[in-house]
Amino acid sequence: MGDKTGGGTLPGHVGIIMDGNGRWARRKGLARTSGHTEGLKTARRIVEAASKRGIRYLTLFVFSTENWRRAAQEVDFIMSLVKQHLTRELDFYRENHIRIRHTGDTDGLAPDIRAEIDQALGDTRNFDGMQVILALNYGGRNAIVRAARRFLRQCGGETADLDEDAITRNLDNPDVPDPDLIIRTAGEFRTSNFLMWEAAYAEYFITDKFWPDFCTEDFDTALAVYAARERRFGAVTR
Ligand code: FPP
Repeated sequence: MGDKTGGGTLPGHVGIIMDGNGRWARRKGLARTSGHTEGLKTARRIVEAASKRGIRYLTLFVFSTENWRRAAQEVDFIMSLVKQHLTRELDFYRENHIRIRHTGDTDGLAPDIRAEIDQALGDTRNFDGMQVILALNYGGRNAIVRAARRFLRQCGGETADLDEDAITRNLDNPDVPDPDLIIRTAGEFRTSNFLMWEAAYAEYFITDKFWPDFCTEDFDTALAVYAARERRFGAVTR
């Protein structure tokens, strides 16, 4: 968790809702898929910037449990982009010591994507730099239900033991701290089922820019805005 009490104002964990690929493309008279291609380039630039700034965890909302409602052709395109990225960019992750992780419901993913994710997770397992968590087939409510199911499988239905800590311990990546800062592009004021449990006390930064236009300067602005915020976690401090 980002710590301001010790004088540090850098968020430990940043989550990003990368919105506006489709609108960016439409504005330019291009197919929606071009927006996703550009969006991937932006993601790579921001991953690199975040790692250089010293961010420890970066969660990218790549594909939600609701995104299956899109045209099959668009869904296939996004999945193929993810696959391509994981196969082609391993050197990039290696050079920057970045560890790749996944959050989301693996059951709903095609076997080839699952295999690619497993490979990337294994290949980067020992990298000790920033951790990039790809939220793919991810929904916050779905994640909470899966955590509760894990708990019930282990504990045989002892509901009295089901507390907040039990849910947290049974999330996909229980060692990953809660996000401190969530960035959303394309000017939407919605959480869209992103990190519902973990973002209870996250600070939000929303920009009108479409994701393909989001640049490292915008990322730095988000970090500066975060640094100026006072986080009280429900307490009274003055
Ligand atoms: C939202 O734009 C964006 C997505 C559905 C995700 C696509 C993300 C990428 C291609 C980047 C993947 C990154 C990595 C590192 C694998 P939208 O289509 O909802 O935009 P709209 O609201 O304008 O239609």
